[in-house]
Amino acid sequence: MYRLVFTQVLQRFDAEAVHHLTVRAFALLSALPLLKRLLHRAFAPHDPALRLTAFGVHFPGPLGLAAGFDKDAACAEGVAAVGFGHVEVGTITAHGQPGNPRPRLFRLVRQRAVINRMGFNNAGAAAAARRLRRTRGVPVVVGVNIGKTKVVPEQEAVADYVAGAKELAPLADYLVVNVSSPNTPGLRDLQAVSKLRPLLAAVKDVADGTPRRTPLLVKIAPDLADEDVDAVADLALELGLDGIIATNTTIRHEGETGGLSGRPLKSRSLEVLRRLRARVGDRLALVSVGGVEDVDDVWERLLAGATLVQGYTGWVYGGPLWASRIHRQLSRRVRRHGFSSITEVIGRTAPDTRDAR
Ligand SMILES: Cc1cc2nc3c(=O)[nH]c(=O)nc-3n(C[C@H](O)[C@H](O)[C@H](O)COP(=O)(O)O)c2cc1C
Repeated sequence: MYRLVFTQVLQRFDAEAVHHLTVRAFALLSALPLLKRLLHRAFAPHDPALRLTAFGVHFPGPLGLAAGFDKDAACAEGVAAVGFGHVEVGTITAHGQPGNPRPRLFRLVRQRAVINRMGFNNAGAAAAARRLRRTRGVPVVVGVNIGKTKVVPEQEAVADYVAGAKELAPLADYLVVNVSSPNTPGLRDLQAVSKLRPLLAAVKDVADGTPRRTPLLVKIAPDLADEDVDAVADLALELGLDGIIATNTTIRHEGETGGLSGRPLKSRSLEVLRRLRARVGDRLALVSVGGVEDVDDVWERLLAGATLVQGYTGWVYGGPLWASRIHRQLSRRVRRHGFSSITEVIGRTAPDTRDAR
């Protein structure tokens, strides 16, 4: 049914127009208490076997929505009501900004992929904070992903991230430092350990200073060389971060300028996850994202050591109830394999890393 709607209707309209309309629909749903609760009861994961705790936060299921859809923290409750176990909002920058000129979002339907060069279009940290302060009608885990304001020069990047963190860390279930989007000039250079250390240390001070101590993760690009993936992993351990999100979109592709997501990203994203797991074992939470399309992909990531899994492009092509369907299928699969909890699946096929400690 969704495939028909997608090919006959949605595909005929500009991708960004459809995106904004969808965000608006979910924002409306977030504001309708009764419908929101009804949908949440029907579609959110409620199976105790799917529950897990990562960095002290309780998740109703392992699959969440990746950053980039709810850039302004406008609709997390609506998104949770259709089956996502958590929603990562953002990327939010300290100052509001328009992002890159349109067109900046392109569907590659045959490849089940998307290219975007949105450029962190968002209303800024203060506006997002106002939305995040509203009380919630349904339970939803909200991660907040922060990035650098485009006009801020690299020498002032730390102060800019810190400003965003101060505003948002107290309102986040977890905080993510995004240094991996390809659409803000120079942003990915911050992944070099020499630049990343002071940045993460400063944001961590802010996150540690909130009343509940907000867990802190860093989100990395798939285009890092393997040694650089290891270096970021070592740094995350050294600084006492809570986890790593891997990966953002890739710039390794033809066609439109921007970051590629979806099916073509699957193998590299999995490779980076395996590398991270081999390096850090279970000492950090690993959030795997990139090319996740179905329950088999989620299962494979969990087996490889992902604590949580995220998707975005898979949802675009899979339809509104994509996450709910996958959570239901996961419930069945957990039992079929004789497990009593999804947590028993995590890292099953990962090599033993005890020697590395
Ligand atoms: C339209 C679009 C916008 C995105 N915006 C952001 C963003 O603002 N911040 C971020 O960290 N990742 C962003 N991403 C990357 C996703 O969070 C995710 O890492 C990437 O798309 C790979 O997952 P997928 O293959 O499931 O889409 C965006 C992705 C898409 C498709």
